[in-house]
Amino acid sequence: MTSLSPNPPGDQRAALSIGVLRETAPGERRVAVDPDVVAEFGRNGHRVLLESGAAGPAGWADADYSAVGATIAPRGEVIERADVLAALRLPPPEVTSTLREGQGLVGLLDPLQNLDLMDELCERGVTVAAFELLPRTLSRAQSMDALSSQSAAAGYRAAIVAAEAFGGFFPMMITAAGTARPARVLVIGAGVAGLQALSTARRLGAVVTGYDVRPASRGEVESVGASFATSSVAAGAGSGGYARAMTPDELAAQQQELSQLITKFDVVITTAKVPGRRPPVLVPEDTLASMSRGSVCVDLASGPLGGNVHGSTDGQRFVTANGVTVIGSSDLATTIPTAASRMFAKNVQALVTALTHEGRFAPDLGDELQRSVVVCHDREIVSPAVRTAMGLGDSTTARSEEVRS
Ligand code: NAI
Repeated sequence: MTSLSPNPPGDQRAALSIGVLRETAPGERRVAVDPDVVAEFGRNGHRVLLESGAAGPAGWADADYSAVGATIAPRGEVIERADVLAALRLPPPEVTSTLREGQGLVGLLDPLQNLDLMDELCERGVTVAAFELLPRTLSRAQSMDALSSQSAAAGYRAAIVAAEAFGGFFPMMITAAGTARPARVLVIGAGVAGLQALSTARRLGAVVTGYDVRPASRGEVESVGASFATSSVAAGAGSGGYARAMTPDELAAQQQELSQLITKFDVVITTAKVPGRRPPVLVPEDTLASMSRGSVCVDLASGPLGGNVHGSTDGQRFVTANGVTVIGSSDLATTIPTAASRMFAKNVQALVTALTHEGRFAPDLGDELQRSVVVCHDREIVSPAVRTAMGLGDSTTARSEEVRS
């Protein structure tokens, strides 16, 4: 294990020390930075400090990192020495409680569900950036879009998990022992994960159909070779490319039209989410009860707030009385940890690079992208979304009020 020393005075090469810890969330196998990105950071004068063993579950040894210039260190030393910690998910309290003024934290941190912690980190002078706050429709945000990269991985896995749980073939099979028809797969919610699930199921030979309430999704569904099932909901798009929340009448109409559609399918993959709200129940109990024995539902919308399928629970699989397998999983990306970590690492590299100026992790808050993605900096809550959730005014107002008082 290489021992750490602070950057020598005047050393312009090691501009930023980026710390990477072992992820501690149950079942989490990804790591925030992969060896390729360590090398990239090195070429830009930064260095990566990796907690020993942190990348093992994702498929890499410490030696893979030290070979490209990372320093391997015990957990405490990484936290102590890092200018910025890069994390997949919000680190546990024993880590966040030790972060100090001037240090940075980036990751999928779920800031809107962790407002007290964000406030505490802000008061301590930590600079926090959360991928969830990225304005994803800006084209220059695409390389930083960890929600998309991880959703793509999850969507791919959803099709594989469904194929594994399904008792039949996905492709049409013509053999001397008879002909099997291809599986019929319906994907409800044709966003990033849904489109990837459609493409993967199609590549496996299934006949695929996509359903969504955003009118723009028709072209996207058809572009991956799937049929589009038209929704009765008119103008279901909300802001930022997301769907809006449905009214109770619209949801009832959706449940009705889907109940007739779903019985024609062997596999239903659901991904329909509305940011910050409970996912709509699109496969209620009676629809589930009407599905054929042996069919499969994979619910990617499953999470603490519920899911799209009646009774689905995050991380659990059960079989209904009529023989339908229901699999709830909010984060299938972690089940393909090497590929998902590679993509996440690229997102980290792009975000950290964007937020670094003259060798310091110091965002330019005049820039729309940086102002959106940064939760707090210099002891001020920056992100408009977090400010609204905390009941704060906009930051320019807050600043001018401070000046007046
Ligand atoms: P998501 O994970 O929040 O939702 C998944 C899908 O469920 C969405 O397509 C949504 O329209 C759909 N949905 C929500 N409620 C529904 C309902 N009641 N019935 C049927 N479907 C419902 O969203 P995701 O996948 O993260 O992003 C959604 C869209 O945002 C993308 O497809 C894209 O259009 C846009 N986006 C644009 C980007 C860009 O411009 N670079 C980058 C990322 C996303």
